[in-house]
Amino acid sequence: MSRFFKAEIVSNLSLNSKTNLLTVKPLEKILNPHPGQFYMIKVSNSKDPLLSRPFSFFRESPEGIQFLFEIRGKGTLMMKGFEIGEIINLLGPLGKGYPALKENKIPLLISGGIGIASIYSLAEEFGKKSILFYGAKSSESLLMIDELKGLVNELIIGTDDGSVGKKGTVVDVLNDFLMQTNAKACDYTIYGCGPKPMLKAISEVAFEKKMEGYVSVEENMACGVGACLACAIKVKRPPFNSPLTKGGYRGVNEERGRITNSEPIYKLVCRDGPVFPLEEIVW
Ligand SMILES: Cc1cc2nc3c(=O)[nH]c(=O)nc-3n(C[C@H](O)[C@H](O)[C@H](O)COP(=O)(O)OP(=O)(O)OC[C@H]3O[C@@H](n4cnc5c(N)ncnc54)[C@H](O)[C@@H]3O)c2cc1C
Ligand code: FES
Repeated sequence: MSRFFKAEIVSNLSLNSKTNLLTVKPLEKILNPHPGQFYMIKVSNSKDPLLSRPFSFFRESPEGIQFLFEIRGKGTLMMKGFEIGEIINLLGPLGKGYPALKENKIPLLISGGIGIASIYSLAEEFGKKSILFYGAKSSESLLMIDELKGLVNELIIGTDDGSVGKKGTVVDVLNDFLMQTNAKACDYTIYGCGPKPMLKAISEVAFEKKMEGYVSVEENMACGVGACLACAIKVKRPPFNSPLTKGGYRGVNEERGRITNSEPIYKLVCRDGPVFPLEEIVW
């Protein structure tokens, strides 16, 4: 089955001043997405802009696939203008999603800002087993709060201005929780998505507490399928005890024969990620 498909815009709702919920109905049979995978969306039928933009699979609804997108630049501004009935081109699902939860582990879902677009489907999958830490600038930026409350065991919010939940970052809220919890840190598995500084801070907490975890990272993309190398990130060398690195571990520069043993290795966010084990990324 091809990953290229056309879809009809079912709705394009504005949730706040900079975020929309887009629902599209595929016009052909498509592959089922997993939490953490993404789609390349062509934002215009013309050649401007030429490049599609990557968006996480948010969730499935009876009407079709949904995406949550933040208006940032030219492409997403054009997406804000998508009209009901319009036909768009997509490619996906792409990349490797979040790995399964090991037995007896408790998932800590950590989301900053629009990272909730990627984390939401994990909350659906793990349900009442999970604890969700959700950080945002203010109450206006928090999305899908009622739905999330119904999905997870506990929703712990941190906002920069203190308008909802604790005043502080999502990492502050996570640290408070880890200080108070009766469980051992190693009983938890982290699944995170958000801005890079947040993911880096989470990786430091995880390292200090010896917790395992996975994060979805964002890089500029052009092709989305491992052909252009636009999305290469520096990673550490193995060994890793991670389900994502089973079955061999080679950087993209090693595959292409451009490496000596002392050089760092690179992986492609679109093909090898966007989800990586926390300990693997060079921040
Ligand atoms: C795996 C993944 C999942 C994501 N999921 C989501 C999500 O669910 N929701 C969400 O809101 N955001 C998500 N993002 C971020 C989203 O893709 C960006 O916000 C979006 O691409 C911004 O597009 P823009 O055109 O509005 O912004 P711009 O800043 O204008 O463009 C974004 C990028 O497009 C490329 N580009 C633009 N113009 C040119 C040009 N002239 N020449 C060459 N390259 C150009 C560049 O790489 C540029 O940095 C995700 C990103 C990744 C990698
Ligand atoms: S976007 Fe082209 S290789 Fe990843």
